[in-house]
Amino acid sequence: MPTIPTVSLNDGTRFPELGLGTYNLRGDAGIAAIVSAIESGYRLLDSAVNYENESEVGEAVRRSGLRDELIVATKVPGRDHGYDEAIRSAHASLERLGLEKIDLYLIHWPNPSVDRYVDTFRAMISLQADGLVGSVGVSNFTPAMLTRLIDETGVTPSVNQVELHPYFPQAELRAFHAAHGIRTESWSPLARRSELLTEQVVTDTATAHGVTPTQAVLRWHTQLDATPIPKSADAARQIENADVFAFTLTEAEIAAISALERGRLWDGDPDTHEEM
Ligand SMILES: NC(=O)c1ccc[n+]([C@@H]2O[C@H](COP(=O)([O-])OP(=O)(O)OC[C@H]3O[C@@H](n4cnc5c(N)ncnc54)[C@H](OP(=O)(O)O)[C@@H]3O)[C@@H](O)[C@H]2O)c1
Repeated sequence: MPTIPTVSLNDGTRFPELGLGTYNLRGDAGIAAIVSAIESGYRLLDSAVNYENESEVGEAVRRSGLRDELIVATKVPGRDHGYDEAIRSAHASLERLGLEKIDLYLIHWPNPSVDRYVDTFRAMISLQADGLVGSVGVSNFTPAMLTRLIDETGVTPSVNQVELHPYFPQAELRAFHAAHGIRTESWSPLARRSELLTEQVVTDTATAHGVTPTQAVLRWHTQLDATPIPKSADAARQIENADVFAFTLTEAEIAAISALERGRLWDGDPDTHEEM
């Protein structure tokens, strides 16, 4: 079983360097897939209200018998922005998860035209003080939005989960995170499979290390100090994805993979793209 190392978040929480994405893992098959990931060493599970699978994630956690070792993340959807709304949303998520605590609570999208993410974050800070939430963070936030949150609440989010893969390496945002002690989490770290895994530079790097293209890409993430959350419904691919810590890419290999940069793949610019 691969061992996934951890790093310290800015609130002292030990946080895995790689986790499981759960988008589209639903129903009995979804529960079984999440249980198999936990059995294969995954300790970070990424859910969201909008994935409609919090009950499946909670059930998998109970079946695993490893509740205390796991970091269960879920997210406040756009329609629940606002102080009171976010408190209600958290209680509803806890109910669906069937857990006593949300270990990592994120704002799913900033939705700047609604302009309520600061109040939403204040609610999350109060839930944290009440012990209902472990770490507080955000998703899809820009440096300007992070700066505003920090200035207006005095609290620096522990995590910012953003689109990040070799086609969109986000160097500037990662530098901002590093300067402020915010952990980067990479969503769609495999660019949803796509042609990324057949790029020459990726297959050459994989061959050089005797690993698969997927493993080369996931190691690229972890060496950028980002926590990728690849989603796989398949037990063998879950193990493959987690087993990326026994080899090290060179700086030249990391730079060559980063040179695949071409921008966002799904038009999810947080300044304009909003999700409810
Ligand atoms: N915060 C946000 O706004 C946001 C947005 C998007 C995603 N997310 C989170 O990020 C997670 C990951 O992103 P994602 O699911 O969009 O994409 P992804 O993890 O980049 O790619 C998932 C796809 O890759 C396949 N795959 C996984 N491992 C593989 C392997 N070893 N070899 C070949 N194919 C493999 C999966 O198929 P199989 O399942 O068949 O293996 C699936 O089709 C999501 O599940 C979600 O938790 C967050």
